[in-house]
Amino acid sequence: MAAYFGVREVARGKPGETFVISGAAGGVGSMAVQLAKLQGLRVVAIAGSPAKTEWLLREAGVDVAIDYHREDVGKRLAEICPDGIDIFFDNDGGSILDLALERLRAGGRVVLCGATSRYGARPPPPGPTNYLQLVMVNGRMEGLLARDYLPRVSEAAAELLPLLRSGRVKSKEDVLVGLRNAPAGLARLYTGANVGKQLLRMDETPGH
Ligand SMILES: NC(=O)c1ccc[n+]([C@@H]2O[C@H](COP(=O)([O-])OP(=O)(O)OC[C@H]3O[C@@H](n4cnc5c(N)ncnc54)[C@H](OP(=O)(O)O)[C@@H]3O)[C@@H](O)[C@H]2O)c1
Repeated sequence: MAAYFGVREVARGKPGETFVISGAAGGVGSMAVQLAKLQGLRVVAIAGSPAKTEWLLREAGVDVAIDYHREDVGKRLAEICPDGIDIFFDNDGGSILDLALERLRAGGRVVLCGATSRYGARPPPPGPTNYLQLVMVNGRMEGLLARDYLPRVSEAAAELLPLLRSGRVKSKEDVLVGLRNAPAGLARLYTGANVGKQLLRMDETPGH
């Protein structure tokens, strides 16, 4: 739902625009990149491992994938988006948000979905240093809260389910089994171990 409404209602992209996203191979990101492609956007996906960038390129069909642990994101964005970024969909916050702001073009939009890199940091790290770029490009930075769209879940489901059933959109899931693995599953979100949506299936074996 965060991906669907973030792409449709907050980003409001037009075909041909450049859509850059952090956390691109996670639960929200893996869906958002595919929905953005269906809208005719040029998608640049930022994620944290070769397995993730490979999935994004081969399965999700993004145009460019950047491994931010192994590549210089600022340099790559300058090469890939010489005319700037129309939309930045932010799942991770931190330094990548600043790099995207730096390259935002006229009328650019930043969708604030999450900031995984900042959760739990004490003291809280400072906010984005490049926020004044929004002034220079007459840009917009807007928060997205999926639960605000709960009354419209059936609208999203009616569009997404046929796409998923037909395989035009793939649901990437990373499933752990057993309640005892719940803490480890949560930790995977912060080490980047998950590829796709991290799920936990209750083990039906007695005693687990
Ligand atoms: N606004 C809403 O309504 C809403 C709804 C759902 C989720 N969210 C937010 O959206 C974001 C994505 O959620 P999700 O459930 O789909 O999680 P996710 O992207 O599946 O998992 C988290 C990912 O964050 C990345 N990460 C972890 N530590 C990081 C760090 N220090 N710096 C940069 N990246 C880091 C890792 O990917 P890499 O290996 O690629 O770095 C990890 O796989 C989260 O921030 C979540 O809180 C918001």
